[in-house]
Amino acid sequence: MRTNLFLVITLLLFTACTVKENKLDVSEKINYCVDKAKSVAQTLDAPDKYPRNIPEGKTTWKTTGVRDWTSGFWPGVLWYAYEASGDDEIRKQAERFTQPIELIANTSARNHDIGFMVYCSFGNGYRITGNETYKQTILDAADTLATLYNPKVGTILSWPKNKHYQHNTIMDNMMNLELLFWAAKNGGSQNLYDIAVKHAETCMTTLIRPDFSSYHVAIFDTLTWQFVKGVTHQGYADDSQWARGQAWGIYGYAMCARETGRADFLKTAQKLSDVFNSRLPEDVIPFWDFDDPTIPNAPRDASAAAVAACGMLQISELVKDEVTKEKYKNAAITLIEHLSSEKYLSGDVNQAFLLHSTGHHPKGSEIDVPIIYADYYYLEALLKLKGIRE
Ligand code: GLY
Repeated sequence: MRTNLFLVITLLLFTACTVKENKLDVSEKINYCVDKAKSVAQTLDAPDKYPRNIPEGKTTWKTTGVRDWTSGFWPGVLWYAYEASGDDEIRKQAERFTQPIELIANTSARNHDIGFMVYCSFGNGYRITGNETYKQTILDAADTLATLYNPKVGTILSWPKNKHYQHNTIMDNMMNLELLFWAAKNGGSQNLYDIAVKHAETCMTTLIRPDFSSYHVAIFDTLTWQFVKGVTHQGYADDSQWARGQAWGIYGYAMCARETGRADFLKTAQKLSDVFNSRLPEDVIPFWDFDDPTIPNAPRDASAAAVAACGMLQISELVKDEVTKEKYKNAAITLIEHLSSEKYLSGDVNQAFLLHSTGHHPKGSEIDVPIIYADYYYLEALLKLKGIRE
């Protein structure tokens, strides 16, 4: 009797999952991104003009220089588009926008963003093409990032130039541990691995609150090197939940779990996801901060949804039991489906893949606009999902 009940439940779950998977045509959405990336690349004739956002009322990317923290995402988009299509013209564009970022790897570290800049560009380029000249640049970038590590705190100093908080560590920085893990596995020092692990451990007890919501920034005392408090920079308030911060945490801890095999990192990623999913509105894409008092009139953040979806797909690949696997995979698919709906896809409206991201709300900057990292993680999520299905 119990066995029969178990079989029925399993069958129902399986049917529900299959139906869910069929609703989203992943290949069609990947083709949409590939075609758009290819045609936009042809319009960007200077190699130091990197798409960053599309301001309200405009249809083309506002570009930025190679030193901007977002510079790696556009070559990253092109590498993903090349990976999906095998189109040599896209590969040439990816190479053209990757090369200028080399200087970031070899000049002194301005902040933790070296990871975003070099790993999304050179990292994807090396993974996809095996181009040996890229390898040294990635290794150099990891060494440069590691100069910001403070062993007395056990974290990387995210923003060296911040005058108020001399040792600060932000949730976004979790993403850039991937560069260190990669380097340690590919000829770099073992120390890079140890730094990444210690950073992730320290953030578990400082950036992450007991209820598995999270702070954006952790502040450490520069005499005792102890954790002082959590504050916000891009969120609504110190004790609120900035949506993208939580998403960086989900992705970051899932990636750390993959790299180390550690169950505590995986559990952390799962709990961060559970909080994120429990706070989503009925129409799924998160508001920029879950605690903005103007909700439901507050702007959304499609980028947070895309980053979180990638993290949840990674979790689904790491957890062992089938029900939990499906739980995180389906949560990711729900996010990707809503990003792929008419409300969020840009279509012919402008050069981006996605509408409705929010960059820095407290500064009044990039509110409810297309932003390049939303496109990057959206395409990454689509490719990850396609890979899992195959
Ligand atoms: N500070 C990086 C971000 O806006 O998420």
